[in-house]
Amino acid sequence: MIITENHDLSLENSFGIRVKCLRMITFDDLDSLRTAIAYDANPKLILGGGSNILFTKDFEGTVLKNEIKGISLVETNENHVIVEVGAGEIWHSFVKYCIQQNWGGIENLSLIPGTCGAAPIQNIGAYGVELKDILVSVTCYDIEASEVKTFDRQACQFGYRDSYFKHHKELVVLSMRLRLSLYDHVLKINYGDISKELDSMNILEPTIQDISNAVIHIRQSKLPNPAFMGNAGSFFKNPIIDTESFQALKNRFPNMPWYPTDSPQKIKIPAGWLIEQAGFKGVKFGQTGSHKDQALVIVNYGQATGTEIKEHAHRVMEKVHLLFGIKLTPEVNII
Ligand code: EPU
Repeated sequence: MIITENHDLSLENSFGIRVKCLRMITFDDLDSLRTAIAYDANPKLILGGGSNILFTKDFEGTVLKNEIKGISLVETNENHVIVEVGAGEIWHSFVKYCIQQNWGGIENLSLIPGTCGAAPIQNIGAYGVELKDILVSVTCYDIEASEVKTFDRQACQFGYRDSYFKHHKELVVLSMRLRLSLYDHVLKINYGDISKELDSMNILEPTIQDISNAVIHIRQSKLPNPAFMGNAGSFFKNPIIDTESFQALKNRFPNMPWYPTDSPQKIKIPAGWLIEQAGFKGVKFGQTGSHKDQALVIVNYGQATGTEIKEHAHRVMEKVHLLFGIKLTPEVNII
């Protein structure tokens, strides 16, 4: 357990916003988490990799940083493994580890920033795979009830970038278990540019490592690296609208891309397209703006404050609403 007073949070959030908290306590197991919770009466904020958060002011409380590590094999049978990972492990390092073991199912989720503990909260997803597709269970500590609870996949109530944990801040993720394939991996290469990327790599029979490499290459070509330009990935969720509103919009904008959802009455529209049409792509507003290669990402060019970034998000939301009648919802937690 490490305790620092008046802690600078610039390195703890991928937007690189210069804010502080009264105290930061890192914990690496259940005992140290319990000690950290009891340490003071301050308001608490649980932080993982800080890659989905926008600080608009100093946090007048104690930040608890989750550094619970460990990867362990829980079960192996003929076709799959069940692996348990600590919430404080870095997601992409974990993905690389699984691919090295030739465990499949996780390769499309390569290079997503953040920690493993944040993954179920957001139900992270990319290139046709969501965490819920491979998740077995999530173990949490309930701060209010002072007890450890395990949630099976159904209890996690996963939705698009949504889960039970997102609405229950008293739960601190300790670990999760995933089911990964050992042989006969089911490869998902039909989403986005994956097959195009594999073609350009001259790969006819891809392995999970090849798919991971392709995803990494696509992400690197479109998404800014937070180590060089502050950002939190997609700032907004892709809006889901009913088929009636969709038809009306499609008549006005025949080139608008769209995706089906699990419900035949609902259609998903890429927010990046809406934002680009609204004229924001690559446009700078002071130290912030929408990224030049992916308008869904809001960036910090170096010195932006959280408030400036929030104001830009509102500017984008207003214009998109005015033009398309669609209300965008931030994916990022604004504090
Ligand atoms: N598009 C534009 N202009 C843009 C950006 C996108 O017209 O500036 C269009 C693209 O041409 C394409 C469509 O929008 O037709 C979708 O774009 P893309 O494939 O880049 O994906 P996305 O829907 O914008 C989602 C996830 C990403 C994930 C990618 C790939 C959300 C909010 N975002 O983005 O997740 O990597 O799909 O699967 O669902 C994240 O959550 O932080 C994230 C990066």
